[in-house]
Amino acid sequence: MAINTAIIGGTGVYDPKIFSSVREEKIETPYGNVKVMIGDYMGNEIAFMARHGDKHQVPPHLVNYRGNIAGLKQLGVKNIFATAAVGSLNMEMAPGNFVFVDQFLDFTKGRASTFVEDGVVHVDMTKPYCCRLRELLTETAVKSGLKFNSKGTYVCTEGPRFETAAEIKMFRHFGGDLVGMTSVPEVVLSREAGICYATIAIVTNYAAGITSGKLSHREVLEMMASSSKNVRSLLVNAISALNNDINCSCCSHEEKLNPAD
Ligand code: HPA
Repeated sequence: MAINTAIIGGTGVYDPKIFSSVREEKIETPYGNVKVMIGDYMGNEIAFMARHGDKHQVPPHLVNYRGNIAGLKQLGVKNIFATAAVGSLNMEMAPGNFVFVDQFLDFTKGRASTFVEDGVVHVDMTKPYCCRLRELLTETAVKSGLKFNSKGTYVCTEGPRFETAAEIKMFRHFGGDLVGMTSVPEVVLSREAGICYATIAIVTNYAAGITSGKLSHREVLEMMASSSKNVRSLLVNAISALNNDINCSCCSHEEKLNPAD
């Protein structure tokens, strides 16, 4: 049976508690071996990957993004819901809010960001995040009474350090709403692989210089812990309402790549 849907759990989302009969699989990809948990949810198999490893041991700049997406592609995954802890640059996106990101600004440096190594392929990135999955998340969040924004621009930094106040000021001028360290290249590789991808960004703090005081990883973890029940129910309800028979147009770019080749 094909596995249609995967969750990539970011900081604070480490295990597929929502599934029954969970098994672990190792997938060999051209980019190295990756680990995935596969579980059952209401008769459907769902894949779960912990982006930072099961003990949160892999920092954002060292995540094997190509291996992870290639591995999910090999399983036959068509839809990815990714979670991401983010800082907010926008007072309307307060800590505790969910944001269904619609755009990104890429400030990463030196990551392996593409499957393209041979030949010239330029994938369309006008709308990087799948509109169908974002709409589904929005409808689900409305029904569940969650605080959310249905769009927002995610600035992806290289990390692992937090940003300076001057960088955040610049990102605001550029139109950024949120800052995090992982959405790029994950969203780009998913598009190259022809997989629909949506991010559930969870605002854990205001970004550097927006409010006074220092940032700490502990505050990010604490906010994620208090949001975890809502994240889980959003994922469960969205996945239950997902129609697997739709051919989504967001990924139908001309030059589809097969990262497993
Ligand atoms: N900056 C970058 N990444 C983050 C932040 C932040 O303020 N909060 C959570 N992830």
